[in-house]
Amino acid sequence: MAEAAATGRAPRFFQRLPKVELHAHLNGSISSATMKKLMAQKPHLRIGEEMVAIDKGAKRTLEECFQMFQFIHQMTSRPEDILMVTKDVIREFAADGVKYLELRSTPREEKSSGMTKRTYVEAVLEGIKQCQEEGLDIDVRFLVSVDRSKGAVAAKEIVKLAGDFLLSSDGVVLGLDLSGNPKVGHGQDFLEPLLEAKKAGLKLTLHLSEIPNQEDETRLLLGLCPDRIGHGTFLQTSELATQDLVDLVRRNRIPLELCLTSNLKAETVPSKAQHHFGFWYRLGHPVVLCTDDKGVFATELSREYQLVAETFQLSDEQIWALSSEAIDHVFACGHTKSKLKERWQTLKSVLLEELR
Ligand code: IMP
Ligand code: ZN
Repeated sequence: MAEAAATGRAPRFFQRLPKVELHAHLNGSISSATMKKLMAQKPHLRIGEEMVAIDKGAKRTLEECFQMFQFIHQMTSRPEDILMVTKDVIREFAADGVKYLELRSTPREEKSSGMTKRTYVEAVLEGIKQCQEEGLDIDVRFLVSVDRSKGAVAAKEIVKLAGDFLLSSDGVVLGLDLSGNPKVGHGQDFLEPLLEAKKAGLKLTLHLSEIPNQEDETRLLLGLCPDRIGHGTFLQTSELATQDLVDLVRRNRIPLELCLTSNLKAETVPSKAQHHFGFWYRLGHPVVLCTDDKGVFATELSREYQLVAETFQLSDEQIWALSSEAIDHVFACGHTKSKLKERWQTLKSVLLEELR
């Protein structure tokens, strides 16, 4: 592949590049097209597009982003809504060249519709199954999310549910995610349920250091040896006092899931050039590009790759390596990884042919 830096390369290259998506929250990933369908079904809620997505060039505070999720959740209050959004989100990732996807979501109960946490997960799994039956070229797995703002008791219930589905979902449910508003609650409250999850055999990915001054919480959560880290925006700092966190992450080679547009639009990173992708990439530390919430932040995974390529002047070969090495960090078993690696090799020749 050409070694030229990626500046000015056609968006089609990034769309055709086979990709792995490991950090996508279901309700944050709902596209404007799907949102319009939901709005048409629930006009009485009077939720406008600007309440559920952030346009190009616009920004919101992290707090405002979390308010948006509350509006979105009103739109997806029934199992049939969850089924529809799951299928639409999977189809959209597939159309963007994603070949392996780990979707994540917090199971919710809604009195108004009788939806329970269990029927919520069943609806997601049914959506995944129907997409597989459609023959879509994408392997989809599911991570159950614990929303930290809901507290430790709810977390225990979610961990139990995730453990049940780990055993009964035929390899679709693979792990547990800790997410939610980082300003609410403390990681300490979740140590016990997270440890339970680990013991049950669930892989762990934890949103860490998404906001500044959370060193104590981060140190505690890193003590659990998570399999991946979401964001880790404020892990790296020049201050000696927190250097141990970077050292710990480096020593254990814990991969970071990085979401540029999300961090820029939620204003936790001041500019793309200052994004912590640069810090970790230069160290040769494993990083995986992801979207976080492609609906809310109006992005696509191919765009995230293009943004990184242009901002950090990466060559075709470096971009290819970034997408291929992401396979090493999926939660699926070694057999799936080998299959994906083989697939990448085949697709590389196809892409090269197209570029000629
Ligand atoms: P859901 O779990 O499918 O309902 O997706 C939306 C949820 O994902 C939100 O309510 C948050 O709990 C979580 N989430 C989405 N984006 C972020 C983020 O950037 N940081 C922490 N949590 C997030
Ligand atoms: Zn996230």
